[in-house]
Amino acid sequence: MNILIIGSGGREHVLGWKISQSPRCDRLYFAPGNGGTEQLGENIDINTDRITTKTVDQLDYFCRHHKIELVVIAPEDPLAQGLADRLAKPGRTIFGPKAQAARLEADKAYCKQLIRSAAIPTAEARIFEHPDSAISFAQTHETPLVVKASGLAKGKGVVVCDNGDDAVEAVNLIMKEQAFGEAGNTVVIEERLVGQEVSVLALVDGRNIFVLDPAQDHKQAFEGDRGPNTGGMGAYCPTPLVDDQLMQTIEREILVPTVDALRRDGVEYKGVLYAGLMLTAGGPKVLEYNCRFGDPEAQPLMMRCQGDLLELMLATAHGDLQTVELSWSPRSCCCVVMASGGYPGSYETGKPITGIEDAEADKDVKVFHAGTAIKNNQLVTAGGRVLGICAMGDDLADAQHKANAACEKIHFEGAFWRTDIGDRVLSGAGSV
Ligand code: AMP
Ligand code: GLY
Repeated sequence: MNILIIGSGGREHVLGWKISQSPRCDRLYFAPGNGGTEQLGENIDINTDRITTKTVDQLDYFCRHHKIELVVIAPEDPLAQGLADRLAKPGRTIFGPKAQAARLEADKAYCKQLIRSAAIPTAEARIFEHPDSAISFAQTHETPLVVKASGLAKGKGVVVCDNGDDAVEAVNLIMKEQAFGEAGNTVVIEERLVGQEVSVLALVDGRNIFVLDPAQDHKQAFEGDRGPNTGGMGAYCPTPLVDDQLMQTIEREILVPTVDALRRDGVEYKGVLYAGLMLTAGGPKVLEYNCRFGDPEAQPLMMRCQGDLLELMLATAHGDLQTVELSWSPRSCCCVVMASGGYPGSYETGKPITGIEDAEADKDVKVFHAGTAIKNNQLVTAGGRVLGICAMGDDLADAQHKANAACEKIHFEGAFWRTDIGDRVLSGAGSV
């Protein structure tokens, strides 16, 4: 089977790496891919961030001429813009939800209304379409708030506020200054929850739900969970915070009612359903839904997954998840992201990268590429998050130690990373 993967991050590299291990995988293509995916298959120069009629025509033409039987749409932007709807054809399987289902991530106001209507635990929230009413709400509210642009903003459209002044400033930034463009035409303002955050991802085939092992992500840029939010600076899997009993609660009280509520709305959900949850004193509550694998969470998940990802994706798309069995490595995996100096703000690119082979000399270490490119036979930086350094270990402390040691062996100008990925649970601060 020839396969096309849409996207260019660490997630796309790890999904390609895992798919390439399937006996049914023949040729693998990436649009547009990165310096790592180029070593697994072939990169195609098509911009898949903005889906225009021309993009769809180019991708459709490519699929026909290269006998592509599976298209994996990994990032949220093309999913929200309906690429899964527009590329579907007899004989061509698409992995990834259609636009109506991807709205769960792309429209936070819609998501909030849907989960509230199904009585799924989530933060109390109000939705505003006018800045003046949002500001007067923020001014009069006493407890800490979170202000969210309703649309897609590359993970940056959420401002966690300490007080009313911060919340007013956030509304101004999002609605008046339009820092995230049209994504901020509507805002969701919600109560600030306290607890540990976990990522629970499930495969959904329209009816059946197959829950994957729980992971945790570190969103803040700097050590000690300080600094601005990023797409994710590191992740680990599994997390001791979610045991089997809690997982069953999450499935029964959160995931199943969400898929049911969508179905009542006439929406068939097929693909990855990613619940961002806060483990509060009152139980797990939904912070957000994503309609895709998380990045970097996909990296430790796939490092530990012992099944055939290609078969899993086909079963998801074809409504056959009830037939699937999957086992996980009993070991832990820790992924540390190496980023370009300045990220998540502005940064320079084109810096030569060295030391990956040295880092991978440890058989427990695997390096996935995110923002890299090959220029004149040299691997160089090409994005904010550059590499995901994944290490397997007998436990999380061992995995963290190996990942940190591997980062020391890799060099590019301005590189920075967090050495405390996993400390939230290792330090004991994780008890809930
Ligand atoms: P979201 O994109 O909605 O997941 O928000 C991004 C990040 O903001 C989350 O990963 C949390 O760290 C934080 N966040 C979002 N909503 C809340 C909330 N209600 N209370 C506390 N933190 C939140
Ligand atoms: N790492 C968080 C996300 O993929 O949204």
